[in-house]
Amino acid sequence: DTGMFTYDPGFTSTASCKSKITFIDGDEGILLHRGYPIDQLAEHSTFMEVAYLLLRGELPTKEQYEQFTYTVTRHTMVHEQLAMFYRGFRRDAHPMAVMCGVMGALSAFYHDSTDINDPHQRMVASFRMIAKIPTIAAMAYKYTIGQPFVYPDNSLSYTGNFLRMMFSVPAEPYVVDPVIERALDRIFILHADHEQNASTSTVRLASSSGANPFACIAAGIACLWGPAHGGANEAALKMLHEIGTVERIPEYIARAKDKNDPFRLMGFGHRVYKNYDPRAKVMQKTAHEVLAHLGIKDPIFDVAHELERIALHDDYFVEKKLYPNVDFYSGIILSAIGFPTSMFTVLFALARTVGWIAQWDEMLQDPDQKIGRPRQLYIGAPYRDYTSIDQRR
Ligand code: SDX
Repeated sequence: DTGMFTYDPGFTSTASCKSKITFIDGDEGILLHRGYPIDQLAEHSTFMEVAYLLLRGELPTKEQYEQFTYTVTRHTMVHEQLAMFYRGFRRDAHPMAVMCGVMGALSAFYHDSTDINDPHQRMVASFRMIAKIPTIAAMAYKYTIGQPFVYPDNSLSYTGNFLRMMFSVPAEPYVVDPVIERALDRIFILHADHEQNASTSTVRLASSSGANPFACIAAGIACLWGPAHGGANEAALKMLHEIGTVERIPEYIARAKDKNDPFRLMGFGHRVYKNYDPRAKVMQKTAHEVLAHLGIKDPIFDVAHELERIALHDDYFVEKKLYPNVDFYSGIILSAIGFPTSMFTVLFALARTVGWIAQWDEMLQDPDQKIGRPRQLYIGAPYRDYTSIDQRR
């Protein structure tokens, strides 16, 4: 009717919502953001430009891009008192536990200035969350290793600023490596949004009650943490290290096929993709580039490559349509750059915050939006009357 592109894959009745942001065709391995294919965005765009696209629906002009990135940089610092909040965590706390707590705590700083029915205040909250999530993430890392927090440097790019807050120390000069900056920016693009995945659905459901957006993003972080979802990048690298050598791959392939063994190939399979995850292809190419640039001959990359080759030719995985997903190669790259495995899902949350916010804002723009209320299929006891305890046997 509006000439807009509508795609009904036949499950409209089970679709949780309508959205214009991201389109996935799991059978064909297609991922579009506002109509643009993910491989072209990963190749030619920047994470900040993709953030603008997801939030506003169009790629920005030069002026729009400069204004957007300038506004983001104006919000990169966090309230000085928030730094004290970290002190309540054990030093060995998982950074995702810290992220859940700190993002939720931000709702205590920005509760009365977030009337979510006011588009301007939603925009301010959006800029605050996009701008502060790298600062909060880097602080979570610095806290766990006992190093001082590093303030943002707004003369750097969004991703360059994050790298500096993560890896610089006051005692040494720090220069952002442009190849690493570009690779990480591309990884952020690949993680920015992915339709109604578990964590995005969590953010939408929490937000549908009108809850504070910072608290809703904290709920999304909590959901993303699970190993079946965003925690898979950490689990995939741990699995590759456990396999250790190409010779041991057949043993793990057999375990993954054994219904009595709970072991699954982490970084493989997907609820929607029954074809190659287009993000995994870009990730594999980026892994090659980063390892070559850093002069790293990582045997784990060879294990990953051989595991993928074997699985893609194994009848079981072919029949079940199991392919590498976005999490399969990402850990190899992040580890080579210097991130500890405990930070992998934090980086996923950093990037996905843009998608969560775009989906949150889209939902609240809908005048007919109502509180989410999933129903169930009741399979419990039929109607029965209460019996007093002395009558029970
Ligand atoms: C992400 O939703 C999103 O968009 C998520 C995400 C995003 O960007 O937000 O794409 C990010 O979460 C990617 C997925 C990361 N998770 C992992 O890599 C963990 C390992 N993968 C599996 O746990 C699993 O593949 C899931 C959880 C991702 C999907 O599980 P499903 O729904 O069971 O997958 P399926 O229905 O397609 O499975 C078909 C069969 C099943 O066997 P049968 O019941 O038919 O006998 O394949 C089996 C599954 O048991 N199977 C696997 C497997 N994944 C599915 N067997 C071995 N290894 C695997 N990895």
